[in-house]
Amino acid sequence: MPTVFDAVNPLPRLLMGPGPINADPRVLRAMSAQMLGQFDPQFRQYMREVMVLYRQLFQTNNEWSLIIDGTARSAIEAVMASIVEPGERVLVASFGRFGQLLAEIARRVGAHVRVVDADWGTVFTPERIEEAIRAHAPRLLALCQGDTSTTMLQPLDQIGAICRRYGVLLQVDATATFGGTPLPIDAWHIDAATAGLQKCLGGPPGASPITLAPDFAKQIYRRRHIEEGLRPKEYLPGPGRMIGSNYFDLAMVMDYWSEQGLNHHTEATTMLYGARECARIMLEEGIDQCHARHTLAGRAMVAGVEALGLRVYGDVQNKMPNITGVVIPEGVNADRARGAMLSDFGIEIGTSFGPLQGKVWRIGAMGYNARKDAVLVTLGAFETVLAAEGFKLSRGAGVDAALAVYRQTAPTTPK
Ligand SMILES: Cc1ncc(COP(=O)(O)O)c(C=O)c1O
Repeated sequence: MPTVFDAVNPLPRLLMGPGPINADPRVLRAMSAQMLGQFDPQFRQYMREVMVLYRQLFQTNNEWSLIIDGTARSAIEAVMASIVEPGERVLVASFGRFGQLLAEIARRVGAHVRVVDADWGTVFTPERIEEAIRAHAPRLLALCQGDTSTTMLQPLDQIGAICRRYGVLLQVDATATFGGTPLPIDAWHIDAATAGLQKCLGGPPGASPITLAPDFAKQIYRRRHIEEGLRPKEYLPGPGRMIGSNYFDLAMVMDYWSEQGLNHHTEATTMLYGARECARIMLEEGIDQCHARHTLAGRAMVAGVEALGLRVYGDVQNKMPNITGVVIPEGVNADRARGAMLSDFGIEIGTSFGPLQGKVWRIGAMGYNARKDAVLVTLGAFETVLAAEGFKLSRGAGVDAALAVYRQTAPTTPK
């Protein structure tokens, strides 16, 4: 007898962790559409539309605003694998686990990596970034906009201008913030930015929006040209020999997305449908309204958590709106409480990595779940679970405080 298993039919869950979150049903419906051939005129039209949609979301005129097939790190890796020459200096400004990931990816593509660290729970001042650029003279600076591991949000409005002054390229990982907080690519002089669908965009993991400034794209093409035969001998054992990644060669990916449509990978049809719907939903809501909805959900969550007598982790002035770090109180069994949230209420909240493991829960309210009802239900369940753990709290205070935030704020969105 073959081993078959049951059909996929998961229990209902409310995903209020650091992502993934519940996908918007509209996105799931779009993803159930039938396949098209990748060179079918209808499909090429969808690809063109995706570029137009994401240009608007990234608030950029960058021609190259498209989707990389893969989870968010695939887009990060594609940028680094395509721009960085072996031995070139890359500076990573790290304030958590995902800064470390940027450094790891940069090392894997052969960069000479320098890391400047901010303590977990804090962010960088522009002056510290400038000092590090002066000290290390990198070709590329890479940093997260929001580091999900610490819940901190790095202000970026001045960083691009600093990079320009020193002739440094700027790559931003906006996986966890894109759609939840402003990222005007052109106004902030960002050369390359990458995101994911599974957080504030309300989609599933598996496709990653990316945007490349024109000069950055030109530098990628120039590098490809070198690799095709003009690279100095010391780097290239034989003329015409390709090096580096094929899948993540953005020059080839851009050719594939261009009007020439040069064959590369087979575009992940279903993910493209999903990414397109995520963008349509956000643009229908309005970019500013979508950010405001995330800000409001974050404020309500913080108010609720504090009213329960809990402490919010880190520099709260610089926290991501869509994730709240909650310091685990003395005497509460963190894993048991998280387990009860899931088994009794079907609500997932997040644990933490590294130095924060066992010290901080991470509660998200983002994308499709940045909604009043989701925030209130989570806080209500959280209160019951904490009380069962023996934590002294004022019953009903969390939900009431969050509701008060919603009541004080005039609705800016239909959601
Ligand atoms: C800030 C940040 N960068 C990168 C990643 C990696 O994304 P993925 O797991 O989709 O590859 C994540 C995932 O949570 C993230 O939060």
